[in-house]
Amino acid sequence: MKKYMFLVVAAFVFTSANAQKFDQLAKTPPMGWNSWNKFGCNVSETLIMQMADEMVSNGMKDAGYDYIVIDDCWQIDRDENGEIVPDKERFPHGMKYVADYVHSLGLKFGIYSSAGAVTCQRRPGGFGHEYQDARTYARYGVDYLKYDWCGSTTQNAQSSYTNMRNALFTAGRPIVFSICEWGSSKPWEWAGEVGHLWRTTGDISDNWNSMIDIFNKQRELARYAGPGGWNDPDMLEVGNGGMTNEEYKTHFSLWCMLASPLMAGNDLQKMTPENREILLNKELIAIDQDSLGRQATCYRDNGDYQIWVKTLSNNEKAICLLNSSDEKKSVLVDFALLAQIRSFGRRFGGFPPAGGPGGAPGAPGAAVPGGAQGGAGRPASAGLPAAQGAQGVSARTPGAGGMPAGGPGGQPRMAPLTLDNYRVRDLWEHKDLTLKETSMYVDMPPHSVKVYRFIRK
Ligand code: GLA
Repeated sequence: MKKYMFLVVAAFVFTSANAQKFDQLAKTPPMGWNSWNKFGCNVSETLIMQMADEMVSNGMKDAGYDYIVIDDCWQIDRDENGEIVPDKERFPHGMKYVADYVHSLGLKFGIYSSAGAVTCQRRPGGFGHEYQDARTYARYGVDYLKYDWCGSTTQNAQSSYTNMRNALFTAGRPIVFSICEWGSSKPWEWAGEVGHLWRTTGDISDNWNSMIDIFNKQRELARYAGPGGWNDPDMLEVGNGGMTNEEYKTHFSLWCMLASPLMAGNDLQKMTPENREILLNKELIAIDQDSLGRQATCYRDNGDYQIWVKTLSNNEKAICLLNSSDEKKSVLVDFALLAQIRSFGRRFGGFPPAGGPGGAPGAPGAAVPGGAQGGAGRPASAGLPAAQGAQGVSARTPGAGGMPAGGPGGQPRMAPLTLDNYRVRDLWEHKDLTLKETSMYVDMPPHSVKVYRFIRK
């Protein structure tokens, strides 16, 4: 008996010591629906099953959304063995029943807990029960765990989340591990080894200021994102009523540019045609889900007018023009220049040093003083003047549009790509541009974006 115990303990210690995150998951940013933004604690078995049904019937499943995640308040207690107890009034058949139903629709099932002793709604957290909970989640059939940071007091974030990662690995069921530590200990610096996505900020609220403030905080984080590990600027508010339709389009576009997880947070039974048009914009979703897994970087920043670029596989790219001001703007866009720029990501060692190539804020040509003053009806010079543009491009793109010659990864030099190599598609108008000149004025309402895909001919 003693010998048997020793073997069990040894196996446990061995597995934990070799534990890692499940590395075949979240190769593209996870997509799905989460209960928190709309329903808060008002969750139940009926609600979750209805949302799962809706996700199938409204086309979201076909568009790539596949996780149904129950956030806080499904749990109510621990029993005498320390086992987590679901709220029996809200989940009378238990969690496995809900998971089985979600799976029967071809979807995946997610659940929530916290690394501290209690969750944010003061339900029992995971602290001290990590291995037990991980086994329970595996038994339920959980595919995704959002793990919050409430109740954590003096805990160390990295070791707490690593402990839960090890517990999940030991339990043996592949589970996407969503770290929700609000960016407090710079999780992007350590979470790549621990989880598949990590929140970078506090909670989003359903208003423009909250959304754009969170977006602005993602700027320096592009190099930490890539297949298997994503910056998470929080869940979507599209359809919850606190922003205009234009603002929701901007919210969704920016999240797609950032290669963010796309977790819808609205009532799927009450979607307007406008909500549907946004959440089901497959051309935008394809930007988010591009297999290269690059997060967009800011190419130019004129304050409330910015140009963001996300390099896509096959040397394609998405360009997003953002008018975050309260005024409409008319901006002159130089498509020939945009054809040559690209974002920098993990494969290239991240952001180049400030002032060096790469379109990092402060890089030459990244911001042109006096450009894009906007103002109603007043054309702003938002495309780079040709001379500065040429200088900016050659500074930041050795072998413009292609791989840097002899650069990281040893990719061969490719011929520079120019506008002739692309057709340019407007991803909200769903049509290709007819460019008579290489530059064109584009009208932008307040708080709006234009998103273009440069598609190789
Ligand atoms: C925290 C998280 C939110 C949500 C709530 C639930 O605030 O950041 O996303 O999970 O807890 O209580």
